[in-house]
Amino acid sequence: MALRWRLASPSGLAWSRISQITVMAMKATHSSAAPASGVFSRATRPVLLRRGARTDPAAIPGEGSSVRRVSATSLRARVDAAYHRQMARRYLRKTGIGPATQVYAKDHGLRVQGGPFEGMLYVARYVPSSGDLIPKLLGVYEEEVHPVIERWLGAGFDTFVDVGSGEGYYAVGLARGVPGARVYAFDVNEYVNRTCAQMAAENGVADRVEIAGFCTHERLQSLAGPKTAVLLDCEGCEAELLDPEHVPALAQSELLVELHDNMDPGLSTALVERLSPTHEARLIEPAPRDAERHPELADLDPELRDQILSELRVDGIRWGHFVPRA
Ligand SMILES: C[S@@+](CC[C@H](N)C(=O)[O-])C[C@H]1O[C@@H](n2cnc3c(N)ncnc32)[C@H](O)[C@@H]1O
Repeated sequence: MALRWRLASPSGLAWSRISQITVMAMKATHSSAAPASGVFSRATRPVLLRRGARTDPAAIPGEGSSVRRVSATSLRARVDAAYHRQMARRYLRKTGIGPATQVYAKDHGLRVQGGPFEGMLYVARYVPSSGDLIPKLLGVYEEEVHPVIERWLGAGFDTFVDVGSGEGYYAVGLARGVPGARVYAFDVNEYVNRTCAQMAAENGVADRVEIAGFCTHERLQSLAGPKTAVLLDCEGCEAELLDPEHVPALAQSELLVELHDNMDPGLSTALVERLSPTHEARLIEPAPRDAERHPELADLDPELRDQILSELRVDGIRWGHFVPRA
């Protein structure tokens, strides 16, 4: 997850900028106001693709006619996703993380070895494009929040909302772990959405994981409630989405939020204050990793191993766990 914060494209474009562009285009599409100008005014115009052409199933829910409509925003998102994937591959090869991940997967397979999602199967083609994969396969990814996730697996929630679901680590893991629960996996990146759909299928939970695309206040309002837990990790969109005025139903939902103070200094304090009338808040700080616990990685260069185990996390990121007051 934190991979993108360290990366920069060869042109110097900040890595996070790629998904920000996608998010901006999505916002233009979902806004009721007319888009301002330039690229976004064209992006909202629908184009037609022949059936069978590669389209985003999340962007066209329920579409079943012989000609599919897909917005230019979706095409733009696909181009961004392809660029993102190519840059990630290049970076991972260059740093050694990609080859290390491939060797790990060859030796230990693609099943998560421990943690709350032990036994979950990863999608093979995703291996070379995520620096986070080794911690995920080891089952130690974001270990700081494991107690919250373990609780969620047995707390009786019937709905999970995962905003910034990526390739589906949490979305598919929660669907596997809570039989019968429905999971809404929101992400604007089409590459990860396709991977998430495939991973849900390979783990036998495709019927309960909805690839939900861009998350709006309205969508969140329709899904939040006392039996819904909400996970947010969307590169700063937490400040906009966690808005009691626009999403009052959030008052009844338990929330686990990755807080990006690195992008928005003071964000944690502001959100704790904003949600304090309705939620009991606890901040969870990132903890250092102990490489000694992972003999599987003993052959790796120590610096590379530490980088992988640290999930490429940068300073200024923590989690907020918000539990509704009785
Ligand atoms: C850091 S990644 C998430 C990683 C994932 N939670 C994990 O731990 O494996 C953040 C994701 O948020 C997505 N994103 C950003 N803003 C969004 C929004 N408003 N709605 C849906 N997804 C969004 C990006 O496309 C990106 O894939």
